[in-house]
Amino acid sequence: MRVGGSVRVPGDKSITHRLLMLAAMTRGESRVRRPLASLDARSTARVLRQLGAEITAVRADGTVTVKGRGRLLAPKARLNCGNAGTTARLLLGLLAAHRFTAHLTGDASLRRRPMRRVTQPLSLMGARTEPAEADQLPFSIRGGTLRPLRWDLPVSSAQIKTSLLLAGLAGGVAVSLREPGGRSRDHTERLLRAMGYTVAERRGRIEFEADGRLVPIDAEVPADPSSAAFLIGAALLADKGELVLPGVCINPTRIGFVSVLERMGAAVALQDVAESWGEPTGTLVVRPGALNATEVAAGEIPSLVDEVPMLAVLASRATGVTTFRHVGELRVKESDRLTLIAENIRATGGRAEVQGEDLLVEGTDNPPRGRVITAGDHRIAMAFGVLGTVRGARVTIDDPGCADVSFPGFAEVLRDIHQ
Ligand code: S3P
Repeated sequence: MRVGGSVRVPGDKSITHRLLMLAAMTRGESRVRRPLASLDARSTARVLRQLGAEITAVRADGTVTVKGRGRLLAPKARLNCGNAGTTARLLLGLLAAHRFTAHLTGDASLRRRPMRRVTQPLSLMGARTEPAEADQLPFSIRGGTLRPLRWDLPVSSAQIKTSLLLAGLAGGVAVSLREPGGRSRDHTERLLRAMGYTVAERRGRIEFEADGRLVPIDAEVPADPSSAAFLIGAALLADKGELVLPGVCINPTRIGFVSVLERMGAAVALQDVAESWGEPTGTLVVRPGALNATEVAAGEIPSLVDEVPMLAVLASRATGVTTFRHVGELRVKESDRLTLIAENIRATGGRAEVQGEDLLVEGTDNPPRGRVITAGDHRIAMAFGVLGTVRGARVTIDDPGCADVSFPGFAEVLRDIHQ
């Protein structure tokens, strides 16, 4: 198949969540341009409206206007975070500094995901959850006056890190954090710095001082590198052509997958580098090409944590055995992603296995054929949707529509780039 065209992929999910939350905490009117208009982003907008912010409809290529009150107001009903772990964990951080009780819930997938990783440090700061240090939604949180926090994260996680930084921000207290492995995405640190807060890195710790001031935001959301990764994967697996992806966020804590692909032999060129609100952006140009196996080290995982499904699918078409080290964290994503990746590669005729915390994938040339179980996980649906574009493939996906969580219209875009 031939690949071609230029596609502006939807706005970055992590940055959209963060901008909406910071804008809701700011007194005055903020503008978020080109936001992600997906189910997850709408979950954040919905719960923030319940907490008193006035937020216009979230539309792709449009502008969301957020009128914040400088603080959140007590909600009248439960806050349903849908499928979005980022919404739930980040919001818990903000709520920790507010003197009212809020009840949080989510869909079946979110209700299975671990929350103690944020409720434990938030309770050290002074927030109370019912039950204490609650681990799974639904539960309630009551915030109040917070104490400063010094905390070592159990895993490198931007959601934990951001939740605690937002608690420090909303509560006006200092927060000092250490991540155990590689650095997780640093969008929050960049946004806070852009607003004048001190977020320093000293001796392996992130040190936040509540010394800035929230000012109305007018920012454009760059295109999501995690969504771009699926189209890059599709371009690499095509027979000929070239795909152009403008305006992608190329923050180094997000594009570890590009370095891995380059090691595998892929040609991903970068052009037109620019900057928007502290985030570097660029145009990625990809051509099809044969791939070789590689080893993905534990320290690289935080910079490509959401790209493992796509990279594993690409590894299943590469020459040799690719190893992903220490990817156990994938068990607590929107699904048990680690198990599902291996099972679905096998279900479509490839070879993959989980050994302890590692994932091993052996490449094959055989046309992929079989039925993929997504368990409602958007990234599983998209990664295997890409596998279905390989010549001779017959891959069916049980729930392709779940891609709407982060990439509305993915199936149509995938069809359109194949000319
Ligand atoms: C996110 C962080 C990542 C990622 C998720 C979004 C964020 O999770 O998987 O899709 O916006 O902070 P962790 O860094 O918590 O592993």
